[in-house]
Amino acid sequence: MQQFSTKYTYLFSLTLCLICSILLSVAAVALKERQETNQQLDKQKSVLQACRIIKAGDSVTPEKVQELFATITPKVVDLNTDAYAEGVDPEAFAQEDATLMKVPGNEAQLSEVPEQVKIYQVEKDGKVDMLVLPISGKGLWGTLYGFLALSADTTTIRGITYYNHKETPGLGGEVDNPTWKSYWPDRKVYDENWDVAIHVIKGAAESPESDPYSVNGLSGATITSRGVTDMLKFWMGEEGFGPYLKSFRENGSV
Ligand SMILES: Cc1cc2nc3c(=O)[nH]c(=O)nc-3n(C[C@H](O)[C@H](O)[C@H](O)COP(=O)(O)O)c2cc1C
Repeated sequence: MQQFSTKYTYLFSLTLCLICSILLSVAAVALKERQETNQQLDKQKSVLQACRIIKAGDSVTPEKVQELFATITPKVVDLNTDAYAEGVDPEAFAQEDATLMKVPGNEAQLSEVPEQVKIYQVEKDGKVDMLVLPISGKGLWGTLYGFLALSADTTTIRGITYYNHKETPGLGGEVDNPTWKSYWPDRKVYDENWDVAIHVIKGAAESPESDPYSVNGLSGATITSRGVTDMLKFWMGEEGFGPYLKSFRENGSV
């Protein structure tokens, strides 16, 4: 049997590593654009699912997603002023590039949030029918990112979706389950004093009419369930969209 020298073995391994890393880098660069497009599409689909323009599980072509998404109006809210950001074109605004600002300790366990946040308005008969707001906060394994769709009354929930999280499939990952998401519509974010009241309970909630502030818990996933409650408390509260939503309902469809 032929014996290879140590030098040959090292050189061979090194060359193989080099070729593999070049191939990987080329693939990463070549696929970057496609990955970004897919991430964008996934986010757009999530917005459409939150407002139930498309239903979870529906197979929709990328072209159809883009066509439906084009009917929704983006707006950019400045969390420092709680008003629409001045001099910002919402169509051109890229959320990923927004400046981050530190926030005091909060329920969602977020240390920083974007200064400017892209939201969406769905119109019907020339008026805003729904607002779709991004939400995020810590679960058990990491941050969950999603959208909450509200009626123009700013309290009635139309739907919720998560498009990015690290929770365990079958446990916290059930935030993606269409059945769990079906528990949300028609429940209320705020109580009669406009305090955030919506929360995920342990076990099953009654109907939205008799139990408007409770949502069924995710079984075996108390930490994720608490994470969902806490992120809504933060994003719908004073530090999040609370003041913007107040001025929206007081000043009408703006
Ligand atoms: C492998 C593994 C994965 C888990 N994933 C989650 C999860 O995604 N979300 C969650 O809240 N709890 C998860 N848990 C359970 C938590 O550790 C904890 O026991 C649970 O949240 C308690 O909820 P319960 O009171 O409903 O049983 C996981 C546990 C194990 C062992």
